[in-house]
Amino acid sequence: AAPEREQWTGQYGFILAAVGSAVGLGNIWRFPGVAYENGGGAFLVPYLVALLTAGVPILLLDYSLGHRFRGSAPAVFRRLGKGFEPLGWFQVAISFIIATYYTVIVVWAIRYIGFSVDMAWGEDPAAFFTGDFLRYSGAGLSTDYVGGIFWPMLVLWLVVLAVLALGVQRGLERANRIFIPLLAVLFLIMVVRALFLEGAADGLTAFFTPNWEALGDPNVWIAAYSQIFFSLSIAFGIMITYSSYLKRRSNVAPTGYVVAFANSSFELLAGIGVFATLGFMAAQQGVAVGELENLTGPMLSFATFPQIVSMMPGGPIFGILFFTSLALAGFTSLISILQVVSAAFQEKFGLSRVQVSLLIGGLAAVISLALYSSTSGLAVLDTVDKYTNEVGVVLSAIATCVIVTLGARRLPELRAHLNAVSTGHVGRWWSVLVGAIVPIALTVMLVTSLSTLLGERYEDYPLAFLNIAGWGTLALMAVAALVYTLIPWRRPVDDFTPEPL
Ligand code: PHE
Ligand code: NA
Repeated sequence: AAPEREQWTGQYGFILAAVGSAVGLGNIWRFPGVAYENGGGAFLVPYLVALLTAGVPILLLDYSLGHRFRGSAPAVFRRLGKGFEPLGWFQVAISFIIATYYTVIVVWAIRYIGFSVDMAWGEDPAAFFTGDFLRYSGAGLSTDYVGGIFWPMLVLWLVVLAVLALGVQRGLERANRIFIPLLAVLFLIMVVRALFLEGAADGLTAFFTPNWEALGDPNVWIAAYSQIFFSLSIAFGIMITYSSYLKRRSNVAPTGYVVAFANSSFELLAGIGVFATLGFMAAQQGVAVGELENLTGPMLSFATFPQIVSMMPGGPIFGILFFTSLALAGFTSLISILQVVSAAFQEKFGLSRVQVSLLIGGLAAVISLALYSSTSGLAVLDTVDKYTNEVGVVLSAIATCVIVTLGARRLPELRAHLNAVSTGHVGRWWSVLVGAIVPIALTVMLVTSLSTLLGERYEDYPLAFLNIAGWGTLALMAVAALVYTLIPWRRPVDDFTPEPL
């Protein structure tokens, strides 16, 4: 028989954990750069539209699926209909893949807390990051390992797997109860400090000045939707898994609004903090903010920020605050994504938490160390991230909408479920968005990304490399989804009846 399902201690614990998952590297390093590149202040329009038309509706969809069908992603989709289990495993595969590279970024952040103390990056932080620190050798699959990454990464994996083994309440919830308030405080101090820097106002002006023409560019809208999906951790099984641990009597829908609001607030705050800081840098160099380089991706956090820390009075403290925030935000997201994998393997194979942590977690750790602690890790990460998010996650979101609406025809039931357990009323608008508007918008997005990926080599990486690291990863996820579906369940999955409405 199946053991009792684990539970959060209550609504507050769940909110903290869900916010912990949502607030991550996406808020701190991804959002500011994306917003800046895509119209600055004007980006807030597509961003809000994406949040309201796709972010919140899909968040509620994930919550209703997990809360009503009470299982890991594969169990939930199977309970919708036997043929739908592969989608659950596809989401598990996405989570597994993302977890393997998310760890290395958290490790970078942790190492940079230390580097901040004596500003170890020296005169040229960009060269330090790719050179001295990563020893980056370009696109390929190198087996030359970097000790300064490998060993801390091994330790991080042990800590993360220990948290998973401790379980939902004593592991995940407890980690979030400590780390999320701490993150909020540290980050707030950093942002306030940034606002008092010379030049901060210019940075904010650069960030918020709207370029309205950008709104006519479809790529700006695509950027907004993908930012929202990544940032809210939706459509790859995380929120299905997390909400399956909510007590049956839980106020589900308002909880979703709180989480979405907290995540976006954090994101805006990060934009403000980062751009105030960039304004300072521009003022020091006597240039306009728009002329600064390295404002996106890993370079923003690991090259530009260190450079600013070096210029700033009290810089080391600022650096410690920034990189600690980054590490905490990344850690709480990492455990959420691994819980997707853990829950699925526990249920399908009848394993205990500890067994899953040792077996599956161990495997993830080995793959993660092998690929990302070597000198080619940066290019592999960049490519896997791109293809997984732009193709894998979007595909998974479309499939979820279509299966729920047309395949299983459960949309009315899920809305009734939300309304039965929540205060406030989720109206028909939700069904229209989930059933039609979101899947159509996402299909347009997917076609556009696919044609770009097929038409030009991403980052000019060699074709063979992209075929393996990009398309190969996607193919592997699809195959894994089918293979795992074929294995029989060791724990009862089908004799499940949702609560009467
Ligand atoms: N929501 C996270 C963020 O904004 C992204 C994420 C979380 C990605 C968990 C993967 C897993 O950074
Ligand atoms: Na986020």
